[in-house]
Amino acid sequence: MIATPLSDTYYERFRSLILTRTGLDFPPPRRDDLTAWLWRAVEALQDVVRYHPDVRLPGGPPTSLESLYNLLLAEEPLAWERVIDALTVSETHFFRYAAQFEALRDHVLPPLIGERRAAGRRMLRLWSAGCASGEEPYSLAILLREMLPDWRDWRLEIIGTDINRLLIAQARQGVFRDWSFREDYALYARDVYFTRTDHRYQLHDSVRSMVRFEVCSLLEKCSPLDDILRDVDLILCRNVTLYFGESVRDWVYQQLQGRLIPGGWLFLGHADPPPPAFAAFDVYHFRGTTAYRRPLAAARPAEPRLAGAGRRHDTAPLVMPPAPAEPSPAETDRLSAEAQYRLGRWHADRQHWDEARYHCMKAIAAEPTYTEVYYTLALIHQALGDRDNAIGALRRAIYLERDWALPRFTLAGLYHAAGQDDQARRELRNVIALTRNLPPDTPIPGGDGLTAARLRSAAERQLASLAANAAPPASPE
Ligand SMILES: C[S@@+](CC[C@H](N)C(=O)[O-])C[C@H]1O[C@@H](n2cnc3c(N)ncnc32)[C@H](O)[C@@H]1O
Repeated sequence: MIATPLSDTYYERFRSLILTRTGLDFPPPRRDDLTAWLWRAVEALQDVVRYHPDVRLPGGPPTSLESLYNLLLAEEPLAWERVIDALTVSETHFFRYAAQFEALRDHVLPPLIGERRAAGRRMLRLWSAGCASGEEPYSLAILLREMLPDWRDWRLEIIGTDINRLLIAQARQGVFRDWSFREDYALYARDVYFTRTDHRYQLHDSVRSMVRFEVCSLLEKCSPLDDILRDVDLILCRNVTLYFGESVRDWVYQQLQGRLIPGGWLFLGHADPPPPAFAAFDVYHFRGTTAYRRPLAAARPAEPRLAGAGRRHDTAPLVMPPAPAEPSPAETDRLSAEAQYRLGRWHADRQHWDEARYHCMKAIAAEPTYTEVYYTLALIHQALGDRDNAIGALRRAIYLERDWALPRFTLAGLYHAAGQDDQARRELRNVIALTRNLPPDTPIPGGDGLTAARLRSAAERQLASLAANAAPPASPE
């Protein structure tokens, strides 16, 4: 199938329809992504019909973007499901942004727990809005298990919602791969709360049953949870609103504020724009992170109206689309290295490892010195159980960027797993040397919020845990 470009007319139609329904915005610089990902949805729908003969779509499976658009306009649930799956970025992992979990553990939850205990009301309501495959609300459940020795005596309502039905189905299963355990604390939690089966980790039922998952869009009323999503103590809505159009985003923040109990907390992702002034949150700065709190005395905000939100047939844009960009090079093989890399990451987020590897290889073929791709490729090889190629890709990344500490840290783990502890120690010492003189809060490139101080202390801990057989060099090679 030849993936033809999106015409100007259909670009604007899709952009507006998708923005209205999901909040996701694809301004002109992201037109290539939109085109490539809509074609993914077309292919996914063709596969569903091919492999499930009982599934019928009006007019048969789409073969063009125009026929896909008609299915969306006709509110065909399967078409929306596959388009949402194609367009949403589902990257997540356990205890993502360690600084936020530290702020919760050390500053936010202890007084809340203390107050509730004192009032004899042992209940907490936590909501992970845009929870993807569930790592985020399960991290909250694990954190509470660690903080509350008497957790069985509490009413703990932990809710995970997401617009992506396929991700929610995955979240409910509670089965994860190595990819989901990248943080230091996640590795500890993996040992305590998961059972390893093959290359996967099954979350213990006693934690799995603590979280309730529902498919809900932040732009629409969440009927199954309408009574529950009130007076929420804590909302994590991280790495969701950065993909939204501005007016939708502000509206969503206001809605979230209305769902919080006075004094309740909102945590956003590091790249999510802050709430607008009119949503009137108090802003708190903790070590390495910022949090938003609904003022204690504030009256509930009036129910704001969002033009177009939830009106599914309305194709009028919420935000006027700017002038269209240049037509895209649409056939995936002709995409730029950057677009190939984005597709590679898109597949990696969904654990489509073969496709992820294919697109990363294409990115490297187009641009052999594209350093980040080698790092991602190494993680993909690792997920595929191909340690040698993972090591090769990391060494290439280090060769291209000798001062980048992250691939050295990952490489140390692989060397250790391969029984090559001398090399592991050498890389850990390199990590320590590279991060030692950086200001503690310096973000590590590719580290998803990881700071220099955290990486250094993780390297120090790992180094201490390896038996010291030889004295490796103390400075980067
Ligand atoms: C990058 S993931 C973030 C996962 C997790 N919060 C984290 O930070 O690790 C973004 C998630 O937001 C979800 N999402 C996007 N638009 C949404 C909407 N309108 N309503 C609910 N969820 C949405 C996506 O499906 C995706 O799973």
